[in-house]
Amino acid sequence: MKILLTGGAGYIGSHTAIELLTSGYEVVIVDNLRNSKASVVDRISEISGQAPSFYELDVADYAALDTVFKQQQPDAVIHFAGLKAVGESVADPLLYYQLNLLTSISLCRAMADNNVTSLVFSSSATVYGEPERIPLDENCNATKATNPYGRTKIIIEQMLRDLCDAKPEFNVVLLRYFNPAGAHPSARLGEDPKGVPNNLVPFLTQVAVGLRDELVINGDDYPTEDGTCVRDYIHVQDLARGHVAAIRKLQSNCRLVTYNLGTGTGHSVNEVVAAFELATHQHLPRTIGPRREGDVPTSYTDPSLAERELGWKAELTIEDICRDAWRWQAENPAGYP
Ligand code: NAD
Ligand code: UFG
Repeated sequence: MKILLTGGAGYIGSHTAIELLTSGYEVVIVDNLRNSKASVVDRISEISGQAPSFYELDVADYAALDTVFKQQQPDAVIHFAGLKAVGESVADPLLYYQLNLLTSISLCRAMADNNVTSLVFSSSATVYGEPERIPLDENCNATKATNPYGRTKIIIEQMLRDLCDAKPEFNVVLLRYFNPAGAHPSARLGEDPKGVPNNLVPFLTQVAVGLRDELVINGDDYPTEDGTCVRDYIHVQDLARGHVAAIRKLQSNCRLVTYNLGTGTGHSVNEVVAAFELATHQHLPRTIGPRREGDVPTSYTDPSLAERELGWKAELTIEDICRDAWRWQAENPAGYP
C-alpha cells in the first residue's frame, strides 16, 4: 500500500514516515519545507533503510498536487501540512485561515478527482477549548477552540464531515493529538522549532543545551496539585504508531471516525521539569512567570476509544520523552543541517 503524507518532512510526519516504511508501506512525501528541511528526508531513508518519494511543493497548488496524485496513485493520505503556532495565529489569523483551509481544500479536491478516498487528518486537542470534563473524551464539545489555529482545525473537521456525507465512498479518521513530544530513539530525528520554542519540552531541551538561559514557568497558581498546568504528553513514536493504526482502520470502510491520541495521564509542568532533570542529570535554571493567556489548567484524554477501536495504546512514558528529546537536542544542538 502506498501512503501520501502532506507535511511529511515535519516533526510528526517524519516519525510517521519511518513507522510506515518499517511496517511495509510505501511512502510519498509532499512538503514545501516551509517549516522543515530537505535533510529530514535523507534521515528518514537512513533510519528506515528505504527511500520515500519526495516532492517539494505547496499542497495549496492544486495543479502540482494533481500531477503527484496521477504519477503516484496513492491508496491513502495522511494530512499533516499546516501551520500550528497558537500565538502566531492570534497575531495573523488570515495567514492561518488561508494556509490551513486552502491546503485542505486543494488536497480533498485532488483526492476526489483521483479517486483516492481514504484520509487521516491531524487535528488537535485544541478543538476542545476549556475542557467541559476531565478526562476529555471524543464526545466532549469539540467546537470551543479559543484561538484562530484551533478554529481552522474545527472548520477542517466539519468540512471533512460534509465531504463524507456528500461522498459515501470517502473514509476519514480524525486524530486529535494531545501534547506530542520526544524524538526518535536514534537521535537522528526530532523537533526542530524555528526561533523561540512555544512548547515546553523543546524549550527545556534548549535550556539544557545552553541555547536559553532559563525556563520561565507560566504560572504556579492554577487549581492543580502543584499549581502548574497539567497536560497529556504523548511520545512522538507512540503517535507515529497511532497513524499506522488509523491507516489500518480506513481499510474497514469506517466512514468518518474520531480518536483522541494521548496517554490518559496528566503531568504538571513541575513534574516534567523534574523528569527532565532526572534524564539529563542537570539542574535546570527556572523562574516562575505570569500565566500565559489561553492556557487551561488541566487537559488529558480518556484514551479508551482508540484502544478499543484502533487496537492502539501509548506505551512510552514522560521519562522516555525526556530521555529521547534530550538525546536529540544534545546530538543536534543546532537542529537539522
Ligand atoms: P511541522 O511544522 O513540524 O510539520 C508540518 C509540515 O508541513 C512542515 O514540514 C511544513 O514545511 C509543511 N507544510 C506547511 N504548509 C505546507 C504547504 N502549504 N504545503 C506543503 N507543506 C506544508 O508540524 P507538526 O508538529 O509535525 O504538526 C503536524 C500536524 O499536526 C499539523 O497539522 C499540526 O497542526 C498538527 N498538530 C500538531 C501538534 C504539535 O504539538 N506538534 C499538536 C496537535 C496537532
Ligand atoms: N510552558 C511553560 N513555559 C514554557 C512553555 C510552556 O511554563 O516556556 C507551559 C505552558 O504554559 C503550559 C504547558 O507548559 O502550561 C504546556 O505548554 P505547551 O505549549 O507545550 O502545550 P499546550 O498544551 O499549550 O499546547 C500544545 C500545542 C497546541 C495544541 C495543544 C493541544 O502547542 O498546538 O497542545 O494539543 F493545540
